[in-house]
Amino acid sequence: MSSDPDRNERMEKIVSLCKRRGFIFQSAEMYGGLNGCWDYGPLGAELKRNLKNYWWQKNVVERDDIVGLDGSILTHQEVLKASGHVGGFSDPMVDCRTCKARFRADQVAEQRCPEKPSRNPQENGCDLTEPREFDLMFKTSVGASSDEGAVAYLRPETAQSIFVQFKNVLETSRQKLPFGIAQIGKAFRNEINPRNFTFRSREFEQMEIEFFCRGEDGLRLTDEWLEARIAFYEQIGIPRDKLHVLDVPDGERAHYSSKTYDIEYDFPFGVQELEGVAYRTDYDLKKHGEASGKPIEYFDEATKEKLVPHVVEPSAGCDRTVLALICEAFDEESVTGDKGKEEARTVMRFDPKMAPVKCGVFPLLKNKPELVAKAKEVKALLAPLMNVFYDETGAVGRRYRRQDEIGTPFCATIDFDTVGENGPELEGTVTVRDRDSMAQERVKIAELPGYIAGKMA
Ligand code: GLY
Repeated sequence: MSSDPDRNERMEKIVSLCKRRGFIFQSAEMYGGLNGCWDYGPLGAELKRNLKNYWWQKNVVERDDIVGLDGSILTHQEVLKASGHVGGFSDPMVDCRTCKARFRADQVAEQRCPEKPSRNPQENGCDLTEPREFDLMFKTSVGASSDEGAVAYLRPETAQSIFVQFKNVLETSRQKLPFGIAQIGKAFRNEINPRNFTFRSREFEQMEIEFFCRGEDGLRLTDEWLEARIAFYEQIGIPRDKLHVLDVPDGERAHYSSKTYDIEYDFPFGVQELEGVAYRTDYDLKKHGEASGKPIEYFDEATKEKLVPHVVEPSAGCDRTVLALICEAFDEESVTGDKGKEEARTVMRFDPKMAPVKCGVFPLLKNKPELVAKAKEVKALLAPLMNVFYDETGAVGRRYRRQDEIGTPFCATIDFDTVGENGPELEGTVTVRDRDSMAQERVKIAELPGYIAGKMA
């Protein structure tokens, strides 16, 4: 929560819109909810998919020097022992002896006592224990056996499968340094205090690249990746002035990193991390080589030299970026309605590439079969190319508002001109209304796919 009531009110409106319009629901809500877990509804699923597809397109499909991986979520315990996660991936926590709540020891001042949500535990005089380490990993067992050998973990980061598959990927893809392996997938951390809507969740999705290089190039590439990743956020509609870069100081970086930048976004609840760009050196490949007894080395044909590659890791939080897109898109304004009256308009100003629905398709009147038939034709033309929404209910103005609220950048209305009732001049054209300017223009039906694709470039 922010200390600014306007920001808190904005966040409350965003959370409410997400539920009302089907972006994000609490997991298992009908059973009281599973804390720290969320389900994406129809629009949230589209938005998240657009983000992941765009990230994959830009980082894998369009690059010759990055290949993809889709590793298993269940992770062999030896992998996470070697990486330093088993026994080392924990947060300090304190318990309140009175109200039994558990807090992160380093964030007590920012948390709320459940017995008095207006106060933090210190202000409420909570009787706190000494800090203790709390394991962040979800442990499970594989198969029927319950002995120690059957222990496995839900992965705490997608990165580890990239490190342990490094040799297989290298041999099959025949890449040369520098090159990267990219992965999008779920990771799990048993957060002590999930909060700020989906921002700090126990189950979340990462979009990670491990970019392997020679040691002497590590710091330079870390700086270059930082710039590339900031440019990515701008491309998806997050303005530069809402992004902050934190050069994470010594003592606050993860155990594997000798340099980390956090890319942060100015959420309504405060400036918080979207992505870490970390120089992990040769830490992980060395550790896995040592622990497995199978050194992970790269042979340079040109110099005939064997080396353990270093790695730069741009690691983006997918759900956090979805939340940033939602927070950035949310807008309320007052507009003059059809009858000249001022009315409130809620509009999600998503970049068209990210918008869950690209085009609303409306027949002007639903009781005119020729308009309905033509509108269904337009929908069929667009549907193989993009997500469209057909709506024939209520006044067109209300249909526009419904699409504004979910961020649909264009609406195409099929009217009497379209079907040639007012003469041949405008026959075969539709009115395309722009979400942001609310301006309308006539576009030929045949040109509609290209018109919309051009605005998404
Ligand atoms: N792989 C980096 C992280 O999960 O934070």
